[in-house]
Amino acid sequence: MIKNGRKNRLQTIVVREFEPKDKAEVHQIFYEGLMEMVPDTAFRGLKHHPESLLLYTAMTVLCFVITMCWWVIGFLPAIVLCGRYFCSRHVIHGYLEHAMSTDMGDIEGFYMKSPDACLWVAVLEGKVVGVVAAVGQQKSGGAVELQRMSVDRKCRRCGVGFALGQKVLDFAAAHRYSFVVLGTTAYSPAAHQLYQRLGFRCVGVTNGYVTPGARWSLLERIFYRVRHHHYSLDVQHNKITSNGQQ
Ligand SMILES: CC(C)(COP(=O)(O)OP(=O)(O)OC[C@H]1O[C@@H](n2cnc3c(N)ncnc32)[C@H](O)[C@@H]1OP(=O)(O)O)[C@@H](O)C(=O)NCCC(=O)NCCS
Repeated sequence: MIKNGRKNRLQTIVVREFEPKDKAEVHQIFYEGLMEMVPDTAFRGLKHHPESLLLYTAMTVLCFVITMCWWVIGFLPAIVLCGRYFCSRHVIHGYLEHAMSTDMGDIEGFYMKSPDACLWVAVLEGKVVGVVAAVGQQKSGGAVELQRMSVDRKCRRCGVGFALGQKVLDFAAAHRYSFVVLGTTAYSPAAHQLYQRLGFRCVGVTNGYVTPGARWSLLERIFYRVRHHHYSLDVQHNKITSNGQQ
């Protein structure tokens, strides 16, 4: 149980293990968090990819040279933004389908039956407002992966994400894992700031990451391009308080 010391000092965040009755709320929070990635990737992500900007400029110049119509210069950026939006939506829907056909479609079977995995919910005033999961990675010995972090939009900046992240770190320490790792394609600062506040360090970036569920068609190659940040935290050397200070 963690006392929330930020926005609303009287509320108490409880982080507990998933129960079957939480399924609908967990799916809703996960879905809404994922859908926020659509405009994030399509619009905010654009300025982080100069190679895409260069490609769109070249496409505009080429179209102008072929058609010799000035209106192409004004029209093409609108097409590019629409293309980016719809391709991001398509890939993220594919990712959602992939998640629902694996772990998120069978939370109990995937997370709650193995000692090396778990999914937790954050409860605020009796309502499920956040979700996070952890999975021990058999391949890279000693690491547990933080996954599926999402908080209800109405309850953000209240310490819910931090409390959920802390739960994963406690799980890793209790199970004697050496590292907690995670990956994110988010461009909004919220996820990055949260992980850094929890003590994670960015250990690598993959430009042109292939999102699970993506078909990698020509349109997706042109309009969907993301960076994948890899974060890691050394569990045994991480001393962190509930205020986020190391
Ligand atoms: C990222 C997310 C989980 C954060 O949840 P949250 O409950 O709002 O986070 P907290 O209130 O615990 O914030 C903890 C710290 O994270 C950082 N942070 C959170 N939201 C932030 C924002 N919008 N801008 C900048 N920093 C932010 C701050 O350092 C904050 O500490 P502070 O409030 O003392 O400054 C939430 O924004 C979310 O669900 N986003 C959509 C889904 C997503 O991106 N998931 C991660 C995918 S990998």
